Amino acid sequence: MKVASIVGARPNFMKLAPVDRALKAHGGFRHIIVHTGQHYDYEMSRVFFEELDIPSPQYHLGVGSGLHGEQTGKALVEIERVIMREKPDIVLVYGDVNSTLAGALAAAKLHVRVGHVEAGLRSFDMTMPEEINRRVADTVSDFLFTPHPVADDNLRKEGVERRRIVMVGDTMIDTLLENLPRIRRLETPREMGLEEGGYMLVTLHRPSNVDERESLKAIIASLRRVSRELTVVFPVHPRTRARIGQWRLGGVSGKSDRLRLIAPLSYMKFVRLMLSARVVLTDSGSIQVETSFLGVPCLTMRDNTERPYTVTEGTNRLIGRGASMMETAVADVMRARRPVRRRIAGCHGRAAWRIAAYLAQKI
Ligand code: UD1
Repeated sequence: MKVASIVGARPNFMKLAPVDRALKAHGGFRHIIVHTGQHYDYEMSRVFFEELDIPSPQYHLGVGSGLHGEQTGKALVEIERVIMREKPDIVLVYGDVNSTLAGALAAAKLHVRVGHVEAGLRSFDMTMPEEINRRVADTVSDFLFTPHPVADDNLRKEGVERRRIVMVGDTMIDTLLENLPRIRRLETPREMGLEEGGYMLVTLHRPSNVDERESLKAIIASLRRVSRELTVVFPVHPRTRARIGQWRLGGVSGKSDRLRLIAPLSYMKFVRLMLSARVVLTDSGSIQVETSFLGVPCLTMRDNTERPYTVTEGTNRLIGRGASMMETAVADVMRARRPVRRRIAGCHGRAAWRIAAYLAQKI
């Protein structure tokens, strides 16, 4: 059976890695990887393939950055060509980025079956491009591989037939579990001169936080104040980096070693820093799950989350978009005891294997 995986952006790659391995281990599959090129910087793409031992993509479509229509449209045109040429039995798409949407649409229109890995999540916020992407991908997918029972509930409430919903668990946690022993041995905090539990790790790139000058300026000013108490390490996403440059906000961060704006980190290094962080501040989706799984406090700078179970079962707290609640929320974490690590449904390390086993049986 020929399986084509379509990926393109950073959060896709750790979800793809275990699926590629599971398809190989299971046997009976030929797996081709198609990279749209939505992300193209070394540290946003290639480093993940190297570290996670993902084979080089058979196709690299070079789509690059652009407005949503432009980026998604280019990916759609190119993916369609690849699917017509390769004639896969099934196309797998991952998560909720523009490449996910393009892959699902291209395959469905060519009547090729589609499996959506990480189906069923909903933020119920249609102003987020990811919500549109995941809803459309789910609508046209034949197999909805869900990461958590909450996703099954969402899909059932939308009237999706039960036979399309396959609760497999979270493939991103498969990757985390597989690599954790290696990651624990890394000395990243020491090499960066950071104390165990003595810093806040930050990632911010959502348009709702960084695409408005005043919002981004207030965030950086708040980070600077927090850094007087707690060292702040902020690997800056290229989108955020571009905004800081465009609006000349570099000066707002000051020149202290306690507020460090650095280049994006590799997967291994980033997880290693997460493990020893006092708290993580983010607007990413994936990091809410990873911190919850690791038992590290997480503050999410968003009004909503498509992963509500990270709040109820995990360590996550929503602090709303923008900087207004950041400083009090950090102070709350500093006062509180470290959370106890709890089990989270779907985080078991066998999600990718379940996908392979399901496909082998169904197709
Ligand atoms: C995309 C996803 C988002 C995901 C994020 C993870 C969509 C709609 N958004 O957002 O869900 O959380 O990836 O990183 O798919 N850029 C570079 N180098 C790169 C990639 C991007 O410089 O390798 C810059 C470009 O200026 C580009 C901007 O970042 O315009 C945004 O990239 P894009 O892929 O459009 O969206 P992200 O913000 O990365």
